[in-house]
Amino acid sequence: MGIWRARFVYLWLDCVPLLHNQFGVKQLLVTGSSGLIGSEVVTFFCSENWQVYGLDNNMRKEFFGPQGDTLWNRDRLQKKFKTFRSLEVDVRDRERVLEVVAEIRPTAIIHTAAQPSHDLAATRPFDDFDVNAVGTLNLLEAARRLHLFTCQPTKCMEMHRTG
Ligand SMILES: NC(=O)c1ccc[n+]([C@@H]2O[C@H](COP(=O)([O-])OP(=O)(O)OC[C@H]3O[C@@H](n4cnc5c(N)ncnc54)[C@H](O)[C@@H]3O)[C@@H](O)[C@H]2O)c1
Repeated sequence: MGIWRARFVYLWLDCVPLLHNQFGVKQLLVTGSSGLIGSEVVTFFCSENWQVYGLDNNMRKEFFGPQGDTLWNRDRLQKKFKTFRSLEVDVRDRERVLEVVAEIRPTAIIHTAAQPSHDLAATRPFDDFDVNAVGTLNLLEAARRLHLFTCQPTKCMEMHRTG
């Protein structure tokens, strides 16, 4: 986790000039916000006084059973940070994703919602593709409509507004 935290700090510092919208409001949209990577992103940006919106539908519980339930993490973050708001959105739901992103108009998006297991990908290929590929496409299109540009560190994705 240390490496990931350092990586996000690095990327954030690298992109600071791009991350302020024209009103000076710093709003971040994080998908998979209750997961391992997403919750660290929420923590980091809330600590930097950003307004952070998280999208997660707790699908990790469906993938991994009761021990994969992430609601405790969502609740922990909402309790800890007044500037964090969690929305139950399935990234596979194209219309909903487009709608939410258009409503929030975030300065940046960090897309970490995923089916992260290679083993599950082999046994549940359709679910894996729908979450990882279709979900990502939905976020990309939503970002394109807001004129955000994208950069991709390994399998997570960041999208920033250019103007
Ligand atoms: N954890 C690591 O060390 C690591 C390292 C390299 C890359 N990654 C990549 O980062 C991404 C996230 O990994 P993670 O470890 O945080 O996974 P995670 O399972 O802990 O978190 C993913 C989150 O996405 C949510 N989610 C799943 N399907 C969803 C859907 N349809 N709609 C909305 N939310 C949904 C889950 O409920 C979960 O909270 C993956 O692509 C993974 O491959 C992770």
